[in-house]
Amino acid sequence: MPQTAPDGPRPPADKTLLEAALRRGQARLRDAGVEAPRGDARLLLAAALGLRSGEPMMAGERALTPAERRRFDALIERRCCREPVSRILGRREFWSLDLAITPATLDPRPDSETLVEAVLGRIEDHDRPQWVLDLGTGSGNLLLAVLAALPAAWGVGLDRDTAALAAAARNAGRLGLAGRGAFVASDWGAALAGNWDVILCNPPYVRTGDIGGLAPEVARFEPRGALDGGSDGLEAYRRVVPEVARLLAPDGLAALELGAGQAATVAGLARDQGLEPRDCLPDLAGIQRCLLLGHQRGRQKGSRR
Ligand SMILES: C[S@@+](CC[C@H](N)C(=O)[O-])C[C@H]1O[C@@H](n2cnc3c(N)ncnc32)[C@H](O)[C@@H]1O
Repeated sequence: MPQTAPDGPRPPADKTLLEAALRRGQARLRDAGVEAPRGDARLLLAAALGLRSGEPMMAGERALTPAERRRFDALIERRCCREPVSRILGRREFWSLDLAITPATLDPRPDSETLVEAVLGRIEDHDRPQWVLDLGTGSGNLLLAVLAALPAAWGVGLDRDTAALAAAARNAGRLGLAGRGAFVASDWGAALAGNWDVILCNPPYVRTGDIGGLAPEVARFEPRGALDGGSDGLEAYRRVVPEVARLLAPDGLAALELGAGQAATVAGLARDQGLEPRDCLPDLAGIQRCLLLGHQRGRQKGSRR
């Protein structure tokens, strides 16, 4: 007697069902050394099916169409070459903002949200007009997160990479923040003057010699100019800290992102420029990640010892 499955007729044996495709993708990613193969395979399958982020995938078991199967295989292949899921999808969520990322922009890290949280937590009146400067803006993540939270603020995102600036400007437009943000090509602060209430900066801070030893997702796919901090990892800070001292308003607040173990040295560079470390905050892993700076109290802005 012919058998039927309890839940209804089975699809033909040559069709790949969603769950089977997921398991196959997961196994390929695991073999390639990917850290979270199941979660990544799910995200890539959702993308192959054309689902929007967060849309449920398994509303019922079904077979993939040949086109979906080809798309999924191609995405899995890219991830097997250790391209991060965020780069494959071209998107990253940062501070609840949906950002587009491109090969020219750093993939924003959750660690960098420490800067946003620190700055927003120290501004008492979020409705007060503020001038915000983001040095090395990349995708615009830091600037746009702060502008989104401060409705009367206006800001500039600066980068030397014009392709990154174009991506940041597109993100500002998509988030409805283009009217309060401008994007400027400059070698650090060279193109700017003024008194900025808030300065944000996540500079390149990896030692040149350490880049090759980073995870393939970082070493192969992040723009080199967003990582390379020179032989001791501190070259950008030596240039940025004097710019912060020059551009920060007398009562302004600057937030610099730090690499692991850099806090004391960068705080010393800041003191040499007449800045005062106000706080140093850890990221979720407990690494000193955000150095908050103001002008030394009782000193004229711009005066040197
Ligand atoms: C670590 S990434 C930070 C990107 C983004 N702000 C973030 O937090 O994800 C450093 C950024 O600084 C930019 N940059 C490096 N050297 C620069 C320079 N001399 N002048 C301006 N921007 C520079 C890079 O192009 C890159 O976008």
